[in-house]
Parts: sequence; C-alpha cells; structure tokens
Amino acid sequence: MINDVDASIAVAAQALARGELVAMPTETVYGLAADARNPDAVRRIFLAKGRPADHPLIVHLPDQSAIRDWAATVPPAARTLIDAFWPGPLTLVLKKAAAVDPIITGGQDTVGLRLPAHPTAQALLRAFGGAVAAPSANRFGRISPTTAAHVREEFPDGGFLVLDGGASEVGLESTIVDLSSDLPRLLRPGHIAASEIEALIGPLQRPSDDAGPRASGRLESHYAPAKPVVLFGTPAGGRLPADATSSDQWLVLAELPEGSGGLVLGSDPKNYARQLYGGLRQLDAAPGGRILIEMPPDTEAWAAVRDRLQRAAAGSREGG
Ligand code: TXA
Ligand code: MG
Repeated sequence: MINDVDASIAVAAQALARGELVAMPTETVYGLAADARNPDAVRRIFLAKGRPADHPLIVHLPDQSAIRDWAATVPPAARTLIDAFWPGPLTLVLKKAAAVDPIITGGQDTVGLRLPAHPTAQALLRAFGGAVAAPSANRFGRISPTTAAHVREEFPDGGFLVLDGGASEVGLESTIVDLSSDLPRLLRPGHIAASEIEALIGPLQRPSDDAGPRASGRLESHYAPAKPVVLFGTPAGGRLPADATSSDQWLVLAELPEGSGGLVLGSDPKNYARQLYGGLRQLDAAPGGRILIEMPPDTEAWAAVRDRLQRAAAGSREGG
C-alpha cells in the first residue's frame, strides 16, 4: 500500500535529484535541503536564505557508512561520539574529503556532518540515496523553524516542497563539536550536553564563557525576532526591566508579572527548548512593544537555551 507520506517522500527525493530545494523536518529544527553533490543546488540554499557564502552548511548523511565520502579521516573520538549519539542532534566537524565542494564548507578544509534521527528525514535521505546540505529553514539571522507552518511563514513564495513531519522534538539546533584538530572544541551548545560528550572523549574547549547578557553586543545576532528583545535576570537576581510597558510581551519561566501578556515556558530545560522558537514567533506576531525574556539560570542544563537567547537579543542592545 502506498500512503501519502511515502508518496510525498518519493516526490521530494525526485525534486532533490533535479537540483531543487526541499524543506525537511529534523528532530532539532526544520532544514532547507539540497543535493550536497550538486553545487548549483547548494547555491540555491544561499540565495533562498540570503545567507553569506562564508557560512558553512551541515551535510546530513543517509547512514553512518556515508561518512567516508565526506570526511578525510574519522578520528577515534569521532567514532566514539558517533556510536553514542548518531542518529541524533550532534554535528561533528571533521577534516573534509577532497571531493567536498568548497561552497558547502565556506572555503574551509573542514566539513560539518550529521545523521538526523527524525524518521521523515531518514526516509527522505534513503529515498534520495545520498547526502543533503541543509541549514535551518529560515531567512538568515531569523528564528529557526520547528514546524512546517514556520517554514512556510519564512518563505511564503518559497517555490519548494515542504515535508511536514510535525513539531521538532528537540526544538534547538544540534550540538556542534569540532574534532578537526588535536583540541576538541564545542562550537555550539545543544540538546546533547558538553558534559555528556566530555564523559566519553575528555575535555572540550568551550566558546568563551564570558558572553553574558551584558556582553551580548559582541555576539553575532541570530535566532532573532523582528521586535527588540530584552533579557532580564531571574527573579532571584531581582532585575525586572524597570521601563516595561503594557505593550511589551513577556517570556518567563514560572509566572507572568501581574496584568502583563506573554508566555510561561516552565522550568524544565528540554521542555522549554522545544517550545522556545514557536513561542518567540508567537510573541513577535503579537501587536506592539518588545519581548522581555527572563534569563534561565546559568547551569549546564540551560546552556543551549541561554546561548540562543543571548544571540536573539544581540541585535537589540543599546537601543539598536
Ligand atoms: O540541528 C541542526 O544542526 C540544523 C538541522 C537542520 O540539522 N541545522 C543547522 O544548520 O542548524 P545552520 O546552517 O543553521 O547552522 C550550521 C552551523 C553554523 O553555525 C555553521 O557555522 C556551523 O554549523 N558549521 C557548519 N560547518 C562547519 C565547519 N566546517 N566548521 C565550523 N562550523 C561549521
Ligand atoms: Mg541556522
């Protein structure tokens, strides 16, 4: 029996083979995919997103054995992490194989590789029979999509197929670990915590830990709503924004201030992460004002969420 899902996956795989883009669900966020072996197709991703050419793309593999086509070598630490976390929300940066087109790597000699866990992504990759390059399916700098509807919102005239795989379960982009040199480095925190990785392969270099909310002007703006975003300390820190007005929307852990509008995302980091991007979109679409966000505690469980919140606010500092 052929059901609708199988049929649309077959159609999407054919579109990829023709060099077209396809938006695909993954367990982290939705990706905008193109045949990773077709530089013209990959170029279309950069055009659609308005993404600068020096921002490398992650290659999504159909299975573990495909890694040999993309990485020059697979060091033992990579093997260990692959056994532990693939398929799943972990991207490994490795020395690239000679055949990998520089358009994917932003001209670098390394490549980001991931094996997604979402059944629809896996079915698409299998039906296509190759790897796809796929950044998050949002316009450059904006909030990553966690539903098919978000993708359509980002690209109303997209002209590409959007596979609907439901809401992304993780809700934040993959953890990225760079294993291309002798010093393993965490490039992006995510659902898989740095400590889980360190337990298996030893210490990771971290992105500098001093990028607190006050220093976020130095962060590249990313994952950003259109409205200004203001971060404030947890109530324990006692710093509610003094200039809040009734047109502001709040994003908080436990309780909205009396008489104000917004969302309560709770104090479980994984649940919060799953709802964050949809919540930001909802508050962005509400009339008027700014988005005032209560910063979760500075603990490892919140590292990925805090990273995204700081970047979401980075473009909004100092009245900017
Ligand atoms: O969860 C995810 O990773 C999602 C889904 C769709 O798989 N993808 C995603 O892609 O977040 P994108 O393009 O939005 O973010 C990819 C990140 C960028 O920060 C990029 O700089 C980094 O991965 N990256 C990719 N290749 C790299 C490389 N060779 N060296 C260093 N960073 C790399
Ligand atoms: Mg992105």
